Amino acid sequence: MKYSFLNDYSEGGHPQVLAALNQTNLVQSVGYGQDEYCLQAKEILKEKMQNKNVDIHFLVGGTQTNMIMIASALKDYQAVIAVDSGHIQVHETGAVESTGHKILTCPHQDGKINVSMIDEIYRQHTDEHMVQPKMVYISQTTEYGTYYTLEELKTIYAYCKEHQLYLFVDGARLGSALVLENAPTLRDLAQYSDAFYIGGTKMGALFGECLVLINDDLKPDFRYHIKQKGAMLAKGRLLGLQFLALFKEDLYYKIGLHENKCAHIIKEGLITNHIPMYIDSPSNQLFPIFEKNIYQRLSQDYAMTEMFNVDEDHICVRLVTSWATPEEICHEFINDLAQL
Ligand SMILES: Cc1ncc(COP(=O)(O)O)c(C=O)c1O
Repeated sequence: MKYSFLNDYSEGGHPQVLAALNQTNLVQSVGYGQDEYCLQAKEILKEKMQNKNVDIHFLVGGTQTNMIMIASALKDYQAVIAVDSGHIQVHETGAVESTGHKILTCPHQDGKINVSMIDEIYRQHTDEHMVQPKMVYISQTTEYGTYYTLEELKTIYAYCKEHQLYLFVDGARLGSALVLENAPTLRDLAQYSDAFYIGGTKMGALFGECLVLINDDLKPDFRYHIKQKGAMLAKGRLLGLQFLALFKEDLYYKIGLHENKCAHIIKEGLITNHIPMYIDSPSNQLFPIFEKNIYQRLSQDYAMTEMFNVDEDHICVRLVTSWATPEEICHEFINDLAQL
């Protein structure tokens, strides 16, 4: 096997993250996220958002963050709206549902939701014999590597405000989106959502997600929710420190640019070799459709995720690039493909 394109968490942590952990290893600090590193990381992030009023909490993983966020925001009878391909719907083992909340889904369009899709679900839920939609969940980037532009985010947020819905943005892969054209910045996200998270695990951290609460209604007692769900890390400094390393010199954005550049090299090569794409993704996840005999030979050297059979002879797969992907391997992959 030459290389795995299975995921953006196939490697450990970025060397700068590891260096920060190593340099501070023997420093003693208070626990549970109330240490100096967490405070510093929060200050830098608030600066970037140009918003001192947000609350920031560091958590360990994405499923945990989604579940705690959604469960803490909703009353027992309230539900969250998402696309059918949404991570909370497909890949989280019913974590949200296990807290008693229904996920109301609609078919996605290029991985995304829009206002008319939200509106249809909202209108179908008319009275107390049904659950009450109270939140819209989107992810940036989406499960199909697409992203919401600032205009799209603003439109969805405006609808949510008009209908008293919270807008929650899952940013497990936010770094890949932040560097794309017309994408919302951290400052925009803090203005046009009620809560969002900045993914670390898929962006060069060993682990960790950074949840930002904007709407005041979502803030009270949040640390109680975290603790009760078993998610308050005693060595919370490890989370703050990693986000400090990712943001103090904008490493986070550099990683996003690198991931996208690698994916772009592969995408251009695929197009040159007449390989169709299932979806036109500009980020670090690609979805080419290969002839099965070509895929079979390619997969002897490169690991990819098999998504679905397009027909008897074709398969759609997913390739993901990471902070650690060497550009050379992307060229080599295309050269190897061209030989087949
Ligand atoms: C968009 C998105 N959200 C959440 C998660 C869940 O993260 P974790 O595996 O850390 O629970 C993932 C993981 O693949 C993801 O892609």
